[in-house]
Amino acid sequence: MLEGTIPDSIGNLSSLLFLSLDKNNLSGPMPPSFGSLLSLKILQIQFNNLTGTIPPTLANISSLNQLLLRENNLHGEIPHFAELPSLSIVDCTSNYLFGTIPISLGRLSSLEYLVLGMNNLTGDIPSSLYNLSSLKALALPYNQLEGTLPSDFGNALPNLQVLLMYYNQLRGRIPASLSNASELNNIELSFNAFHGTIPPSLGALQSLKRLELFGNLLEARKPSDWSFITALTNCTSLQVLDLGDNLLQGMMLKSIVNLSTSLNILALYNIQISGIIPTEIKNFINLTYLDVSVNDLRGTIPVEISHLWQLQYLNLSSNMLSGEIPPTLGNLTRMDKLHLGSNEFEGAIPTTLSNMLVLELLNLSNNRLSGSIPSEVLSLSSLASFLDLSYNLLNGSLPLEVGNLINIGELDLSNNRLSGETPDTIGKCAILEILHLENNLFQGSIPSSISNLRGLQELDLSKNFYSGQIPAFLDELPDLQYLNLSFNNFEGRVPMKGVFKNASKVLLIGNPKLCGGIPELHLPKCTSDAFAAKHHSDYKLKVILIPICGAILCLIIIMCLLGVHHLIKNSRRKPLSRFSLKNRHMKVSYDELFRATNGFSSDNLIGTESFGSVYKAAMNYENADIVAVKVLNLQQHGAFRSFMSECEALRSIRHRNLVKILTSCSSLDHCDNDFKAFVFEYMPNGSLEEWLHPNARENRPFRSLSLIQRLNIAVDVASALEYLHHGGSVPIVHCDLKPSNILLDNEMTAHVADFGLAKFLRQPPDESSEHSSTSTVGIKGSIGYVPPEYGMGCKPSRLGDVYSYGILLLEMFTGMSPIDDKFKDGLSLRGYVRAAAASPEHLMDIIDRNLHSVDNDMAYREECVRDCVVSVFDCGLSCSNESPYERCDMTKVSKELSAARETLLS
Ligand SMILES: *[C@@H]1O[C@H](CO)[C@@H](O)[C@H](O)[C@H]1NC(C)=O
Ligand SMILES: *[C@@H]1O[C@H](CO)[C@@H](O)[C@H](O)[C@H]1NC(C)=O
Ligand SMILES: *[C@@H]1O[C@H](CO)[C@@H](O)[C@H](O)[C@H]1NC(C)=O
Ligand SMILES: *[C@@H]1O[C@H](CO)[C@@H](O)[C@H](O)[C@H]1NC(C)=O
Ligand SMILES: *[C@@H]1O[C@H](CO)[C@@H](O)[C@H](O)[C@H]1NC(C)=O
Ligand SMILES: *[C@@H]1O[C@H](CO)[C@@H](O)[C@H](O)[C@H]1NC(C)=O
Repeated sequence: MLEGTIPDSIGNLSSLLFLSLDKNNLSGPMPPSFGSLLSLKILQIQFNNLTGTIPPTLANISSLNQLLLRENNLHGEIPHFAELPSLSIVDCTSNYLFGTIPISLGRLSSLEYLVLGMNNLTGDIPSSLYNLSSLKALALPYNQLEGTLPSDFGNALPNLQVLLMYYNQLRGRIPASLSNASELNNIELSFNAFHGTIPPSLGALQSLKRLELFGNLLEARKPSDWSFITALTNCTSLQVLDLGDNLLQGMMLKSIVNLSTSLNILALYNIQISGIIPTEIKNFINLTYLDVSVNDLRGTIPVEISHLWQLQYLNLSSNMLSGEIPPTLGNLTRMDKLHLGSNEFEGAIPTTLSNMLVLELLNLSNNRLSGSIPSEVLSLSSLASFLDLSYNLLNGSLPLEVGNLINIGELDLSNNRLSGETPDTIGKCAILEILHLENNLFQGSIPSSISNLRGLQELDLSKNFYSGQIPAFLDELPDLQYLNLSFNNFEGRVPMKGVFKNASKVLLIGNPKLCGGIPELHLPKCTSDAFAAKHHSDYKLKVILIPICGAILCLIIIMCLLGVHHLIKNSRRKPLSRFSLKNRHMKVSYDELFRATNGFSSDNLIGTESFGSVYKAAMNYENADIVAVKVLNLQQHGAFRSFMSECEALRSIRHRNLVKILTSCSSLDHCDNDFKAFVFEYMPNGSLEEWLHPNARENRPFRSLSLIQRLNIAVDVASALEYLHHGGSVPIVHCDLKPSNILLDNEMTAHVADFGLAKFLRQPPDESSEHSSTSTVGIKGSIGYVPPEYGMGCKPSRLGDVYSYGILLLEMFTGMSPIDDKFKDGLSLRGYVRAAAASPEHLMDIIDRNLHSVDNDMAYREECVRDCVVSVFDCGLSCSNESPYERCDMTKVSKELSAARETLLS
């Protein structure tokens, strides 16, 4: 990693052809002497901290072909480039450039990619750019550009494929001539102020894949204004159509059902469309994302929607849909977010929703749903963001299964007719932050298990029939910001600590028997401390006695009513179910793990992963004597989330080449701090990292992996990734593949570990458009293995894992780490292998020397070894391609490697 500034003397290297300083920590300005590098073809200083302006002297480098300055802190205006006849790529994305785009850029007659997104550029886009017939991509998103697109836009852009202008202040109409740029496949004009109608001529764009017009002022007043939909049915490759948040209105044109069946995102949010959801919706078999929320749709949900088996996101909320929610909706097992709120649905909540095993969010609020809450739906432990059933007509008690929502962040059951006591199991929803139970018929006391909800921020129990004292533990919940207990029957002394210190956070009106608390609450004084003390112990006694008396009474009544036989049956069933719940969550305690690792002693430390340390532990567990324990460092930012994502990932997957989780432990340590750990199978042969790069300090006899062992490991890892990417209902991206995360068991079978950064690909697959899949979440993998596009803000994708895998493959067979000191100044492991790949002989020179010493006496035919090595390196190179589009998927990789192994053994 280079630091410091670029010296002015760089200008002396007058015959330099190629300068790449990407991904260093360079700061300071770009020296004007760059202008003296008169032979330079490629100038590449991306992902640094350069400041100052782009030196105008660059305009002197007439040989310049690529100018790549993405992600720096460059200020100032874009210089006037006069004549740079070879300049074909200019990428200054994500800097602080301001001013207008210079007209002179229009004279760069070879310009193919002009990429200036995420700057502060203002003014009109110079029309000279629209005459650049060489242009393939014009990407200016996230600026403050103004003006209109000329009515002849596209007439002189025969090669334009990508037009990205989202998040600007462009006005005017979308020119019909756009379709004359006949190669266009990606048009993204969202978040501007375009008005007028959408030109039907867009239907002539044969290659159109993406049309995003969200958040403009586009209109459709009369039916003929919708004719663009019929025209777009000609675009047979269309995958993404987003028209949301415009002024379109009226009946949805029937011909929408004839849009391309390759459509995978259809977003029609808030455009005032009316009518019904057509049954032909079932044709869109590739749909993963369907949003028709905030419209005037009526009628019922057609059962045909259940044919869209790839659907991950369905939003029908804020319409006037009615009838029952079809139980077949439960067939959509990839569903991840389901919004049906604010409609007129009635009937019961279908129990089949529990088949949506990866459902993260369920919103059924503001309907007329009745009956009780099905316990099956509460067993969906995948529910993580929120479950909102508020404002319905639900009745009955809250099922015990609510405790299965161990990932839920927000639970809103308010404004229903739920009754009975709140089950104690609610304390198992360990990461609950917001709990709304107001305006129901709940009774009894606040369950003591609420004290386990350490992350609780909002608790609203108002307008119920809760009684008893306000439990003291509420003043110990560190994050509680809002506590509404008004209109209940609480009594006794109000605590003074924690949330109770601030009268604006605690609402207690309508509980006439409360006393004490801080003066701002204006409650009557408690009559005396003596009274309070007595009252308190009375209360304790009551708490103990009532259930016991109640239980005995119940026993007697039940015995009388049902007879002894039923009683025995019941009593057998109940304790069993309690036992199994307990069993699953508390199988190992902190104490056990503490003992087994000798107090987490450093002698037992066997590795560190993204969010924690891994210890070897001597402990009997499911036929194993030794297990591995990963203890999360909860101080580290993101550790808690990582625990949840690892839990989630591991719960749903099982494969011979993935580490097997045995159990987890979530409790308090000896200092009452939160403690979270996983218990895994122990892998006696350590990690691939230790085998590839043995640490000189460890006094171990020399060991190395043979060619066939390396191939086997490569095939194992490929098959694990293939399973993660393509095996389950929702693809999982590992995000941190590297040798230290590949563990070897007794038989040297590889197991992929560390799912702390793993991501479910719940968003629709977005590999078709790199530009629009930017995410604000910073994704960190490990340096050397992170694909370049993550650095540019792309979301994690399967192709990202493929990149890491490619690097891993190159590393395994060259024995060289991608973060080796050799690899700097533009030289990378991949570049090194690619250079050698020019001839098979050279390739044989770069394979890991240690291989020769292990494989000497192995009798493979020489040409078999060579063919095998050539195809392994080929595969590694194509996986680690800079451009995600050029990489192949793991299914193919897995096949190629198995074939390479066959070759070797033949
Ligand atoms: C670049 O060209 C301009 C005018 O042609 C000249 O004044 C300037 O000195 C040149 N700069 C460098 C660094 O060569
Ligand atoms: C674009 O090219 C046309 C035809 O060559 C020419 O008439 C027009 O002035 C050019 N426009 C700009 C802005 O350069
Ligand atoms: C769409 O295709 C039909 C039939 O091939 C053709 O008549 C029509 O003009 C096309 N529409 C557009 C906008 O190209
Ligand atoms: C959809 O296409 C089919 C076949 O081309 C045609 O018969 C049908 O009328 C079209 N439907 C609509 C609503 O345009
Ligand atoms: C507390 O609950 C009551 C009854 O549900 C409600 O009227 C009031 O608005 C709530 N207070 C706040 C501050 O939200
Ligand atoms: C009480 O909480 C409110 C809202 O969080 C805050 O604005 C106010 O400063 C707090 N008052 C005291 C005395 O802490």
